Amino acid sequence: MSAAEQHEDLMDLARRALAHQQNHTTDMTEAVMSMPVDAYTDPGRYQAERTRIFKTLPLAMALTIELPEPGDFKTIYAMDTPLLLVRGDDGVARAFLNVCRHRGARLCESDAGNTRTFSCPYHAWVYDRQGELVSRYGSKTFGEVNQSELGLAPLACAEAAGIIWVTLGSAEPFDIDSWLGGMKDKLETLELDSWHLFDKRELVGPGWKVTMDGYLEIYHHNSVHGATVGQHTIGNLLVLDTFGPHQRLTLGRRTLGSLAEETEENWEPLQHIRLVHNCFPNLSISGILGDHCLVSQIFPGPTPDTTSTIQMVLSARKPETEEELSATENFSAMVLQAVQDEDYRLGLLIQEGITSGANHEFLYGKNEPAVQNYHNWIAHFMRQEADINWT
Ligand code: FES
Ligand SMILES: [Fe+2]
Repeated sequence: MSAAEQHEDLMDLARRALAHQQNHTTDMTEAVMSMPVDAYTDPGRYQAERTRIFKTLPLAMALTIELPEPGDFKTIYAMDTPLLLVRGDDGVARAFLNVCRHRGARLCESDAGNTRTFSCPYHAWVYDRQGELVSRYGSKTFGEVNQSELGLAPLACAEAAGIIWVTLGSAEPFDIDSWLGGMKDKLETLELDSWHLFDKRELVGPGWKVTMDGYLEIYHHNSVHGATVGQHTIGNLLVLDTFGPHQRLTLGRRTLGSLAEETEENWEPLQHIRLVHNCFPNLSISGILGDHCLVSQIFPGPTPDTTSTIQMVLSARKPETEEELSATENFSAMVLQAVQDEDYRLGLLIQEGITSGANHEFLYGKNEPAVQNYHNWIAHFMRQEADINWT
């Protein structure tokens, strides 16, 4: 997207948001939708969804800025899968099972770093940055094996829009462009590959769907986040764009109404709206305040009532001055509070009541269109018996 197209896109969002603000409206669906609570609790269904959705679809597993140079790597244990992501000498990011091909030891136990080779802690077999097995300690005594067949087990991996995408259940290549569809352009405008990773942490949260529902609506912003992120945005005002299963949510900032007093040539739309990009099924990128951005990867836990969220706090550039540092620290503390002490605290209480029998179904309002879409897309992917249709 050219800079002019990008500007027009943001202007259009600001116009739509302003119209909602003036009319006290929001983007809506046609009808209230209901969902049996079983969809949140049934263990069999949960396992099927983990496999069908989380092990089959491309997931955002890393940001390009986590491994910018050849030899940069990171490990992650996601959905019962130990992963090693490493950038090769050819500049290509690859994903492997972080498991030694001799007898299954966890090859790399560091979280991240830069290395020429990976040496297994058990018997010191050595792999290079492309995952090839390059040497074996005591190979003469061990005996002949075909080393070229004993490289690390690869998973399908692609890099796009500053994000490294991996399918956890397959080495079969996928087409990231068709999977992202129109969302790719939108993600690219974020220029995620040029941000600075300021902080990264892991949060324990409620079940997958309870958690994701909260990322996908603005209806709760005033009541839950009045002291944090809700201070800056208008509650229950949503402008929604969808790109297949992916969704871009636009929120109005409290200053939005001031646009009505300005001619459009003077508008700076990003001063008055906030964007949240949601990539199905588990990535949320929120540009909440100016130079800061929150990236969240939500992974379903072993049971339906828990998730693990990797939260990354980005700043537009590395904070250098006291002022920049404290602004970034404040942002980081605020989003941690908003998510951990507000969203997830509430979500964990939902989990405590979810099997009480109070609800046989949950309701998604007309003003919660992104939540409705999300559950419709879950149903869509669960319906497909054959291969996922990437478009
Ligand atoms: S398990 Fe890795 S070298 Fe033996
Ligand atoms: Fe929230």
